[in-house]
Amino acid sequence: MEKKINIAIDGFSSCGKSTLAKDLAKALAYIYIDSGAMYRAVTLFFLQNSIDFNNSDQVEDALEKILLEIKHTESGFRMILNGMDVTEQIVRIEVSQSVSEVAAISAVRKKLVEIQQKLGEQKGVVMDGRDIGTVVFPHAEVKIFVTANVEIRAQRRYDELERRGMPARIETVKENLKHRDHIDSTRADSPLTQASDALLLDNSYMSREEQLFVAKKIVEEKLR
Ligand code: DC
Repeated sequence: MEKKINIAIDGFSSCGKSTLAKDLAKALAYIYIDSGAMYRAVTLFFLQNSIDFNNSDQVEDALEKILLEIKHTESGFRMILNGMDVTEQIVRIEVSQSVSEVAAISAVRKKLVEIQQKLGEQKGVVMDGRDIGTVVFPHAEVKIFVTANVEIRAQRRYDELERRGMPARIETVKENLKHRDHIDSTRADSPLTQASDALLLDNSYMSREEQLFVAKKIVEEKLR
């Protein structure tokens, strides 16, 4: 049987890393895991239950009430929060506006990193996020750090929201991206940073097929 590895894909918000991770998982018949969806599901729960993010007792208490599950269906990766499929709800702008704040809470990160590491134990996982190559899978065989310029990222996010029937103003989308990038890269616990052994992939002017081609080459080299 062919050797299985773990692949860590990190990068800024809306840089196309989820698309790459999904495409790569499909091409390799690996499992795709969107770690950002887990932070979003926790954020949704906090918002729905009016949890004060700055109150550690409330946060700890809420975390105990959260059960996160992942499903892989024909329509792809599904995020299940306490038995409810929240995959669509968690991409809403309200969640996007609070998720970086929630992702900066150490108790939240501790819980999610544990789940993510369990999911990777069997190998054959492509996981995308912000700290996958640095914290979740520091020994991942392949690490890719994806980047693209902010104008292009804002346009991609805007198009995605339109496609999902959740139109927003492009300026709002861009401001939200910049705001999240700032919080994600400056937080004290596991800030977004390129792992020293990660390969940088700037896909600003690459098509979906081109970025997949580059990533597949990187994986093939590793498996050889
Ligand atoms: O990839 P995304 O935009 O869905 O991620 C949502 C937020 O979650 C993002 O602002 C940063 C945070 N996040 C994180 O801190 N660590 C991860 N591994 C994944 C996401």
